[in-house]
Amino acid sequence: MSIWNKKPLIKLLAEAEDSEKGLKRTLTAWSLIALGIGAIIGAGLFVRTATAAAQSAGPSVTLAFVVAAIGCALAGLCYAELSSSIPISGSAYTYTYATMGEFLAWIIGWDLILEYAVGGATVGIAWSEYLNDLLVNILHTSPIPYEFSHSPFQTSPEGVQGIINLPALFIVTVISLLLIKGIQESAFVNGLIVILKTTIVILIIYIGWKFINPVNHTPYIPQSSVFTDEHGIDHSFGGIMGILGAAGTVFFAFIGFDAVSTAAQETKNPKKAMPIGILGSLAICTVLYILFAHVLTGVATVEDFRTGGKEASVAFAINKYMIGYEWLGEFVTIAILAGFSSVILVLLLGQSRVFYAMGRDGLLPKMFSDIHPKFKTPYKANLAILIIVGGFAAFIPGDIVGDMTSIGTLFAFVLVCISVIILRKKEPDMVREFKTPFVPFVPILGALVCLAMMYGLGWVNWMRLFIWMGLGVIVYFSFSRKNSVLNNPEEKK
Ligand code: ALA
Repeated sequence: MSIWNKKPLIKLLAEAEDSEKGLKRTLTAWSLIALGIGAIIGAGLFVRTATAAAQSAGPSVTLAFVVAAIGCALAGLCYAELSSSIPISGSAYTYTYATMGEFLAWIIGWDLILEYAVGGATVGIAWSEYLNDLLVNILHTSPIPYEFSHSPFQTSPEGVQGIINLPALFIVTVISLLLIKGIQESAFVNGLIVILKTTIVILIIYIGWKFINPVNHTPYIPQSSVFTDEHGIDHSFGGIMGILGAAGTVFFAFIGFDAVSTAAQETKNPKKAMPIGILGSLAICTVLYILFAHVLTGVATVEDFRTGGKEASVAFAINKYMIGYEWLGEFVTIAILAGFSSVILVLLLGQSRVFYAMGRDGLLPKMFSDIHPKFKTPYKANLAILIIVGGFAAFIPGDIVGDMTSIGTLFAFVLVCISVIILRKKEPDMVREFKTPFVPFVPILGALVCLAMMYGLGWVNWMRLFIWMGLGVIVYFSFSRKNSVLNNPEEKK
């Protein structure tokens, strides 16, 4: 019963072949690109661009997007090779099982909870904030009372204590039920939302371009200094360190492109469609992000982002500077609400497929891999996720979970990069529909860029990551190791 046991590749591929019995193969390359964009464009772009400009980089947040995109592209090339050669549910978890053994696979599976479940909760909490924005500023009604739209750890400036974040719980519940109903329907709803949010991003770039004030872009890279935020935390502002710090912040905006790889078992011709889905959605979003950041920092000043806008910074900039386009400000709020919903949808989809794979392997209770007889979805995994993510969303503040999502995801990316190198050595003859170019150079560089961004996230987040992982190790040795199918072949099924 070694904890380093690897799941044989042949077994993994046989499971993929066997998928007739399990998940339905309905997704095409286009639906994968839509799925990717659905997960990618969200709170990272509409909230964190302004935060990064305010705290770290000013207009050079645009360059921070370039740095983060380079890290994601290098990791994306590695994801594309693995998901085209091992096209079955579970993403980085499954690849690690085949390359680095059960214990590290468990570690990565546990870590992916930070990316998908905690990430989903983070965006759910942001959704709740924008719902109140919609109620007050567009529908001109009363907001949901503070105590019912905030966690118990939050208090309003007037001294009202939060109790439960009901809107966040609501959106997580609706989306979990949609996912139980079926991925095809989910993909359709997601497609509509993707059209809406890409339209709004393109509109802002197109209309906003005329309102760029060159003064706001001068100098493009501010001189190095220190900015102290309202919590008393110091940030390196300007210069190279400012850009790196901002890259860590806006990295959140790219999270999700890898979620595409978790749907491999539901994809038609996954070996071709996967690389197109992963790299295509990443490329489209990178171009949109760079243009969007350039426009946003050109329209409003760094001071605006520090004081005026906060969460609704984009709507704020439009209303203040783009006179005559107030309708665009309203449209942004609606598109953001819909856009956040699709981000949650793809993240929870990713989480359920990782749980499905871990349940199938016996590392989590078997029920996680039960498929609904009619809908053909892992409905029990979805219900468990509804409880976990709903709990996070209802009772934990958004800022605590946001950076944990980033550091957890970067850690997963590092392991995926390393997996490519190991698998090339251990399984040189495996059929690879898509090959990462310049191995080992690309995976090594990918791992290094991701490690640099992790470094930029600071020691508090490292500590949280270690605590989370410590919990995972306890669960592994008290449950998963004993129940692993690989370790107990005679008890299989
Ligand atoms: N990339 C996703 C977002 O920005 C997680 O909301």
